[in-house]
Amino acid sequence: MCGIFGYTGKKEAQGLVLEGLKHLEYRGYDSSGIAVLNGARHISVKKTDGKIRKLEEILKVHPLKGTTAIGHTRWATHGTPSPHNAHPHLDGESEIAVVHNGIIENYFDLKKTLEEEGIRFQSETDTEVIVHLVAKHYKGILENAVRRALKELRGTFAIAVMTSHESGKIVAAKLDSPLVLGLGKGENFLASDVSAVLTHTNRVIYLENGEMVTLTGEEFKITNFAGKAVSRKPVVIDWDVTRAQKGGFEHFMLKEIFEQPDILAAILKERVTGTRIHFDELKIPAAQLKRIKRILIIACGTAYHAGLTAKYIFEEFTDIPVSVDTSSEFRYRNAVIDKNTLLIAISQSGETADTLAGLREAKKKKALTLTLCNVLGSSLSREAKGVIYTHAGPEIAVASTKAYTAQLAVLYLLALYFAQIGAGSSKKITPALKEFMHIPVLMRKILDSYKRNESQWRDNAHDFSQRRKNAPNFFLYLGRHINYPNALEGALKLKEISYIPAEGYAAGEMKHGPIALIDENPWVICLAPKSKTYDKMISNIQEIRARSGCVIPIVTEGDEEIKKLNPIYIIQIPEVSEIFSPLLTVIPLQLIAYTMAREFGRDIDQPRNLAKSVTVE
Ligand code: G6P
Repeated sequence: MCGIFGYTGKKEAQGLVLEGLKHLEYRGYDSSGIAVLNGARHISVKKTDGKIRKLEEILKVHPLKGTTAIGHTRWATHGTPSPHNAHPHLDGESEIAVVHNGIIENYFDLKKTLEEEGIRFQSETDTEVIVHLVAKHYKGILENAVRRALKELRGTFAIAVMTSHESGKIVAAKLDSPLVLGLGKGENFLASDVSAVLTHTNRVIYLENGEMVTLTGEEFKITNFAGKAVSRKPVVIDWDVTRAQKGGFEHFMLKEIFEQPDILAAILKERVTGTRIHFDELKIPAAQLKRIKRILIIACGTAYHAGLTAKYIFEEFTDIPVSVDTSSEFRYRNAVIDKNTLLIAISQSGETADTLAGLREAKKKKALTLTLCNVLGSSLSREAKGVIYTHAGPEIAVASTKAYTAQLAVLYLLALYFAQIGAGSSKKITPALKEFMHIPVLMRKILDSYKRNESQWRDNAHDFSQRRKNAPNFFLYLGRHINYPNALEGALKLKEISYIPAEGYAAGEMKHGPIALIDENPWVICLAPKSKTYDKMISNIQEIRARSGCVIPIVTEGDEEIKKLNPIYIIQIPEVSEIFSPLLTVIPLQLIAYTMAREFGRDIDQPRNLAKSVTVE
């Protein structure tokens, strides 16, 4: 994880690097640092534990002057979050500085050898070996020294390096961690993610694995690790920077929850013409997709829950068997897959290490691969045979919301697309699309109702927090059939941002364990919209109430039955067919997590210990 940012040009670099790091803070935020190279050929460094704003405060008092700089925001892997473990790291003479995202797997052996050669280490990080190796090989040309150091490294990395001997120059290299160049006029940028450079330029180049770049304000030169020149045209990114700002909302997460209806409407507009579904960027021909005998979905976290939901969706609209796995499990399984398997990797960032490894594993076994992701040009999107973008715009809050519903929306359309090309029931397409078109309006209704009843939501959260002072209460989420994955997602969201224990369960499994937890303490969120399992959910609710359990059901508007069971609060969603209901039931779940986290005063957009994209195993 971690975010790196670099600037070289004519402007003062400190402010630009701080601003860039703020855009990357979602990748890690336990410590940060900056190294600035000034005209007097000197590298100055400031590092601190804590968030970027702490670094910013320090720099206000002790500004660093210079027009070339590299910075880092950290998510600790080796060594505690502390100023001495924060990046940039310097060599013994303070003439070379390095920032790094990734893990150097052979750092222990390298460190031992370097220590035997007399090098004294200042930190417990794996990264520090890089700077000492570069220093060891430095003979006056930085890129040569970096290239020689790279030969000794095993693991994953995106690094940026500067030396006080060569003003205006940054050398960067990439292997399995993302790195993008932003090309300006008389200035150039480096970042872990394109969103960090978009305020300055929308002309970018994604470095590929095994490539390095030498960057000055005026030019850039890309080579492979062996030194062979690589020519690559810049791509122009059309993301609107304002979409990465809060727009009047208290938190990015709330803003992103409220963006969902518009994102879904845009996805439908882009992908559906009349009753035809199209994925223009998909390079896999329909005939090849049609030959697929099974689909295997891999993903992590929230994206995994989208995958689980997709299984129900595909079973409704197609005749292709689907299985779903967390990427971290899949990659070490001896999964039986072949050229008739379509592996779909779902990922907001397109950089999740386990998902990337899973995709590579599937490619080795000759599976056809498709990435469904949000970030343009990400590693997963480049490595799969086909890519479909979710176009949810930059998601800044660490807890995923809009990326999830965008993933679901694309998965509905993909299943219907399979039906359209002959791998399912074509009769279902038109009525399904008709209903789907109306979903954004229904989502907006739920959000409007939340706005009208916000004080009631807050009172409920306050009530829970007061009760929690006396009893170890927690949340249980129950759902059935296509709403079961949302029960998992609701529990995940709550845990992620409020730190309240929560468990998601298939309601039918309640009697096999969770019922033992029921007394008057836990709050049980029951996903009970109209569906073929509605009566079963009523039974579950009755069983909970019979044991004095507190229930908050999510029901279809006009439901009178559940009211009779005395829930503590009822959340209503508009009427919708069961198959599309996850797109609606998930919104109250996101809002419950948000409201609870707010009540407990948590850092909603940047919860402790988490990172937005997990680029290490
Ligand atoms: C992290 C994030 C989650 C995300 C998961 C998978 O855990 O905090 O929000 O769902 O990674 O990330 P991806 O980018 O692959 O969807």
